[in-house]
Order: sequence, then structure tokens, then C-alpha cells
Amino acid sequence: MASLATRGKWSSRLGFILAAAGSAIGLGNIWRFPYTAGQYGGGAFILLYLVFVAAIGIPVLLAELSMGRNTERNAVGAFKALMPGSWWPWVGGLGVVTGFGILSFYSVIAGWTLYYAWESMIGKFGHRLDAAESGAILSDMTSDGGVMVFLTGLFLLLTALVVRRGVSAGIERTVKVLMPVFFAVLLILVVRSVTLPGASEGLSFLFSFDLSKLADPAAIGSALGQALFSLSIGMGAMITYGSYLSRDENLPGAGVTVAIFDTAIALVAGLMIFPAVFAMGGSPAAGPGLVFVTMPTVFGQMPAGGLIAFAFYALLAIAALTSTISLLEVIVAYFVDEKGWSRERATWSMTAACFALAIPSALSNGAVPFLTEMPGGGFLGLCNIVFGNWFLSIGAVFICLFVGWKWGVGKALAEMARGGGELPIGQVWGVMVRYVCPAAVLAVLIYSAITGRYL
Ligand code: TRP
Repeated sequence: MASLATRGKWSSRLGFILAAAGSAIGLGNIWRFPYTAGQYGGGAFILLYLVFVAAIGIPVLLAELSMGRNTERNAVGAFKALMPGSWWPWVGGLGVVTGFGILSFYSVIAGWTLYYAWESMIGKFGHRLDAAESGAILSDMTSDGGVMVFLTGLFLLLTALVVRRGVSAGIERTVKVLMPVFFAVLLILVVRSVTLPGASEGLSFLFSFDLSKLADPAAIGSALGQALFSLSIGMGAMITYGSYLSRDENLPGAGVTVAIFDTAIALVAGLMIFPAVFAMGGSPAAGPGLVFVTMPTVFGQMPAGGLIAFAFYALLAIAALTSTISLLEVIVAYFVDEKGWSRERATWSMTAACFALAIPSALSNGAVPFLTEMPGGGFLGLCNIVFGNWFLSIGAVFICLFVGWKWGVGKALAEMARGGGELPIGQVWGVMVRYVCPAAVLAVLIYSAITGRYL
């Protein structure tokens, strides 16, 4: 076991907030949130999403952070420290496996962003494209197995180069550069989008609350699943990041700040995408292709569209990188703390293992026919459902049950209060973690298992 003294630590509160916000803000915000909101009709879905973030996301986030900081351990070690000799550490083990699974398919999509950033740099998106031409660019890329495997590997390599250097010299130093760049570029793109003629239609799409759109229970499941995924909760990523947080810091304050950041960025991503899509006559309900098929047609019609396209895909790549870093860190922290491996060894061996698991996802869009026939669009789609929805939800249920019933609400609240920032509505939080959160997540899981509709 790595001794506590040699474990990493965030050097400041800002370092933690940027790293945790970097983990939370990712493809989930800029790719998945806009297209899901677009598919479920905009405003009403967004309202529901906000309710889930507040009522379920934030309580679970605080539960994870408290476990991490209290034990100063990784996802498995935290359960071991609080309940030695029990089966609970397996919940942490499930989290490590989930991290592996998410990292594998996430790196594939992250690799697409590198390709698109590159292609926009060499001028591919600076002119008018129709939807068919834009679709062909995506399918040409995804059906080229060599390119896909290369891009996935490249993204994993970038991730490993940061994680191998450790918590403050690697992760914190990187996010302190990347996150400000991210915010600046995002701001420029939003201003560009909302000042396009015709942008107001996009705004009213985002902010019109037509509650009848929520009659489909799948919308409810998607909003909840999205809240877990976007906040990086349900697999111990926030246990791990919380374990590097100093005792003197205000934990509830920092946790809520991260959640607000993440949610604000999802909304701002909507502000960046929908006004532009409507202004240029695209469809908001394009699904997963929204960012990779619809947006290039939008850029093609804008002045300086090539440059804007580059900024947009670079933004996505940055957001993805600060998220893959946190996914890899969960795995690496486990092997360093529990197995006594050096950080270097854990980083490279686990990156290689994850790359192996990512290859079928990288090839799942046409290059290997049998993989495309699986539900949800190939092996990548399957991994998204299994790891990104099911395992994450199961993990969230167990984390709530553990903190609410085993470790105890009182102890968790005491941990939160330790840095001087007592949670103002501690008893409400306790009720949420013990009853409301696990019941809600379980209900969605059961619905999805019975109906065969994915979260
Ligand atoms: N939250 C990230 C996003 O929105 C993805 C992510 C990073 C994640 N780390 C995680 C999701 C841990 C679940 C658990 O893109």
C-alpha cells in the first residue's frame, strides 16, 4: 500500500475545483447533453435535468467526495477503510471496471474530436457542405479502421502522459492551463452563435417548457442518466478526486461549485449549438450526429467558419481530455494504493489494457460488420449502455446505500463540516442519500430492464 504521505494532493482549492470540473465537463456536456435535449424537445427536458442535478446529482457527489476525503483512498480502498472485511469494496471494484469501460469507448469519440480539429485546421470545414456530404466525412472516418485505432490510441497516450506525472504535477498543472483556455474559447463561440441572424429560434427551443414532451418515460431516464454521467458520479471518480482534497477545504462548497460549473457549461453548450443550428436551418433532433454532422454544415455557412470549426473541435478535445484523465486516474489510483504499483507502471499497463478494450469500439462503425449489428449501434454503443448507463447507475445506488446506511449520514456530515463548511441542509441531504436517490435511480434501472429501453 502506498503510504498516505506519498499520496498526491491538490495544491489548492482552485486546483481541486478545476480538476473536478474538468472531469465533469466533457463530451457529456457538449456532445451528449445537446443531442439528448434536442431529441427530447429542448426546454422541458432541460428543466427535468436541472431538477435531477439538484436532487440526485449533488447529494451523490457530496457522498462520494466525503468518502474520498475521509479515507484518503481510491474507490476500492475507501470502502475497505470504512467497512473492512465486508463485501462493500466490491462496489469500488465495480467502479474501477466501470472506469475502464467508459474510458474505452469515450477515447474513441474523443479521437474523433482530434480528427475534426485537424481537418478543420487544413480547411475542410471552411465551405458549404450539405448534410449528405457532412455525413460522408464522418462515415469515411469511422469506417477507416486504421485511422480509428490510431486516433483512439493517440488520445489514450495524451491521457497517460498527464496521469503518469501524478496529481499535482500532472493533473492539476494540466487543468490549470486547459480549463481557462476552454472557458475562453467557449465564450467566444457562444457570442458568435447567439449573434447570428435567426438565433432566437434556437433560444426559444432551449427555453420553452413544453411539459407534454416529458410524457415519454425514456426522457426521464435519459435526464437522470445524463445527470450521473455528466457529474462523473457513480463509479468513484469523485471518491478518488476527493481523496486528494485537503482537510481544511470547505467540501460542500467545493462540491456544489463543481456541480454548478458542470451544469452551467451544459446549458452554455446548448447556447452555443442550438442558435447556430436553427440559424443555419439544421435539425436539433439529429441525435449523436448533431456535433459531428450537423455542426459542420453550420460552420460551412458562417463567415470564418473554418476557424470557428477548429475552435469548436479543439474545445471538445480539451473537454474530453480533462475527463479521460479522471477516468484513468480512478484505475491508476487503485493499483497504486491497493497493489503497491508505481504510478508509472500502473499508468502504462492500464492504458495499454484500456487500448485493447477500446479497439472493438474503434472498429465498431463499419470496419467489422458483426460489431455494428449489436444493439445501440455497435460495440461502442453497447459499451455506452452497459458501462455509461447501467454500471454507473448500479454504482450510484450502492454508493448511496453505503453512505446512507452503513457508514452513516452523521459521519459523512461530520466529514463535510471538517473544513469549516457545514452543509446547511444536512438532514435533507441524509434523506436524499438514504431514500430518494437510490430509489429514483433504481426505478429507472428497473424500468429500463423491463422495457428494454436504455436509460
Ligand atoms: N463527466 C464526463 C462527461 O460529461 C465523463 C466522465 C469523466 C465520467 N469521468 C467520469 C462519467 C466518471 C462517469 C464517471 O463527459
